Amino acid sequence: MSRRSLIAIADLDRDDIARILETSNRFAEVMARDIKKVPTLRGRAIINMFFESSTRTATSFELAGKRMSADVVNVKGSGSSVDKGETLKDTVLTLNAYRPDILVIRHRAAGACVVAARHTDAAVINAGDGKHEHPTQALLDLYTLRRATGTLEGLHVAFVGDVLHSRVARSGATALRTMGAKVTFVTPPTLMPRGAAEGLGVDVSYDIRDIGDADVVYALRMQHERMGKGGFVPSLREYATEYGIGHHRLRPGQLVMHAGPMNRGVEITDDLADDPTALVTTQVESGMIVRMAVMFDLLTEPGTRKGSDAVDEAVAA
Ligand code: CP
Repeated sequence: MSRRSLIAIADLDRDDIARILETSNRFAEVMARDIKKVPTLRGRAIINMFFESSTRTATSFELAGKRMSADVVNVKGSGSSVDKGETLKDTVLTLNAYRPDILVIRHRAAGACVVAARHTDAAVINAGDGKHEHPTQALLDLYTLRRATGTLEGLHVAFVGDVLHSRVARSGATALRTMGAKVTFVTPPTLMPRGAAEGLGVDVSYDIRDIGDADVVYALRMQHERMGKGGFVPSLREYATEYGIGHHRLRPGQLVMHAGPMNRGVEITDDLADDPTALVTTQVESGMIVRMAVMFDLLTEPGTRKGSDAVDEAVAA
């Protein structure tokens, strides 16, 4: 039987997202215990395939699998047969021979997970594919925000900076809109994706003062590795002056997020990055919990009595 996958946030409807956030709450209870391990996925195999650099996503998926007692194997681009020119298709076919339950894939190419899913019976989780999608980042951001504010309905989130190259903004905006939030993209003209307003149902602005109305200011990383020879902004110093987020731009009570890794002094000031009221570390904490919930969700029958009973069983020590 081919399994459900999570390749784009649009794979989930409002009920799916609500269910995963509820399940995340239950796994958060597990993380509050002395022994932070449950037998939920005992006998299951998870292969994490990271062909592009990662700290947060890679470690949280590995820990999430281990905390649920799965067998977890990590494959990186460097040091694997990818170095010898093996194609993604052949790597997936090879690993599929071990009958994994889940393949977690990060790749620099947009669409890599769609290709991979054609060659495996495992559930595929997109852990970030180029500038396309990062659905588990969107879910962990929603979880973080709901914990911080109590509700997503009617919340106004402004994504600021390099939206053009940002899978975080693309998945995040879709997920937030699905849950009834308002989203604004605030960028220099060169870093605004064409058709964002119509395609994603967001407001767009080139004026940083428009973050004033937002409940949440989400600073985006300048993605130098996706900019080629550059030319998107006159200089990083000018960008930081015009669009960098710091205390001077915020009004009291506004929440600040950043998916990391941060370019301190570019999209976010040093002071703000270190401010304990910014949600950056909370986002990282949420990552492991939400990824536990996503893996559990893909391997159970959601929306059925069996599914909800299974959550109770899943968090039982
Ligand atoms: N936010 C995020 O995806 O971080 P990593 O690249 O460190 O996984």
